[in-house]
Amino acid sequence: VARTRIRSALAGEGGGGEVTVKGWVRTSRVGKEVAFLALNDGSSLANLQVVAEPALPNYAEICTVGTGAAVAVRGRLVDSPAAGQRYELRAAAVELLGPADESYPLQKKRHTFEYLRTIAHLRPRSNTFGAVFRVRSSLAQAVHRFFAERGFLYVNTPIITTNDCEGAGELFRVTTLDLARPKFAGGGVDFSGDFFGEAAGLAVSGQLEGELFAQAFSDIYTFGPTFRAENSNTPRHAAEFWMIEPEMAFADLRDDAALAEEFLRYLCRHVLDHCQEDLAFFNEHIDPGLVARIEGVAGSSFAMMEYGEAIERLRQASVAFEYPVEWGLDLQTEHERYLTEQVVGGPVFVVNYPQQIKAFYMRQNDDGKTVAAMDLLVPKVGEIIGGSQREERYDLLVARMEETGIDPASLWWYLDTRRWGSTPHAGFGLGFERLIMYLTGMENIRDVIPFPRTPRHAEF
Ligand code: 4AD
Ligand code: MG
Repeated sequence: VARTRIRSALAGEGGGGEVTVKGWVRTSRVGKEVAFLALNDGSSLANLQVVAEPALPNYAEICTVGTGAAVAVRGRLVDSPAAGQRYELRAAAVELLGPADESYPLQKKRHTFEYLRTIAHLRPRSNTFGAVFRVRSSLAQAVHRFFAERGFLYVNTPIITTNDCEGAGELFRVTTLDLARPKFAGGGVDFSGDFFGEAAGLAVSGQLEGELFAQAFSDIYTFGPTFRAENSNTPRHAAEFWMIEPEMAFADLRDDAALAEEFLRYLCRHVLDHCQEDLAFFNEHIDPGLVARIEGVAGSSFAMMEYGEAIERLRQASVAFEYPVEWGLDLQTEHERYLTEQVVGGPVFVVNYPQQIKAFYMRQNDDGKTVAAMDLLVPKVGEIIGGSQREERYDLLVARMEETGIDPASLWWYLDTRRWGSTPHAGFGLGFERLIMYLTGMENIRDVIPFPRTPRHAEF
């Protein structure tokens, strides 16, 4: 494509020669002598200022170009007299590619995030969402780089599945579109039927299949979409979210926590080094202290606390929690945030949870009461990672399935890995949206995924 990205133009690429940039107008202003267009093409937060002079043949048209219009500008990069920018583009030709009138909903003013959610098709053209989705893309690439550097195999696990990995009954059911049936009266689509005669759902996790691959490739990871039919309308839960799930053979809970810590610190370092402009924006407009916090995490080692101790600390707390605190009950977000924000003041692993509140596949500890589970809690977000060492002992695993109402026959392939060449192994899941919330300071999961799927929010 014969164009210079605005990020490069702003960095002075082209060295005073002629460049062509293409983008969308953020603001336009007609001055006494010249017209100004602030142009953005998504490559950077900063706009490129275009200066158009009356001598241009279509100057009258340029003066009518509105916010949101798409334009192509050929011109020369010159030193800018304006504050806050090194270069501006002196236009030799401005071509209006796609006009936009005053009905364009993203006129230059502050919009609430709630409003912007209703225009998810346009919000990536705003400053905040431009920054969010650049950071998201950059982090996805960093995830792959982290595992590639360490020799982990990337595996794609199924999205259509019959296993409910977490055992929480949160599968969306998959049905076959029956084109032979009459459409609903309203003209809608009839979604009745099932998956070619069998019940199937959308994966809540790729872990069980990931474990199979770890028993062949030693170190693997997944990175894909997962789905949960939990009707919890919170700022941290989405029905469709992305998860990164590494799994290591010949590894225990300590190895698992060590990998999780190294991974999160790597991702912190990554945004500090590669997303400076966007991070500075979040630090200024969304979450003061963000950059200092990420720098702190990048250079620290994380605390670790037994579940039992966490319960003790919560019981001693002077704040009144909404949900009860008692050995044997799961931690709620308010408890998690108290532990990481008030008790520790940074990331903390809580390990060895009671068996009855955790999934069937977690390895039973010698005390007979707890399992080798770990949750990593971080300030503002709460649980960002959930993981465990897996039960590699056939008999104990079958017994646990039966206790939790899972038919061992339905997971025969999973059990097979415990019959032949079973090894200690461990892994975890990092919620990608929670990671982005943590590293941008954005407080609602709906604002870190391009098209959020949450209860009452799946329009497009
Ligand atoms: O704790 P979870 O449910 O663990 C698992 O799914 C395991 N199979 C992971 C593993 O050991 N391989 O989910 C893992 C993480 C959570 O810590 C959270 O960050 C995120 O996934 N998560 C969600 N993110 C957004 N919306 C939801 N509804 C989420 N549920 C979990
Ligand atoms: Mg969890």
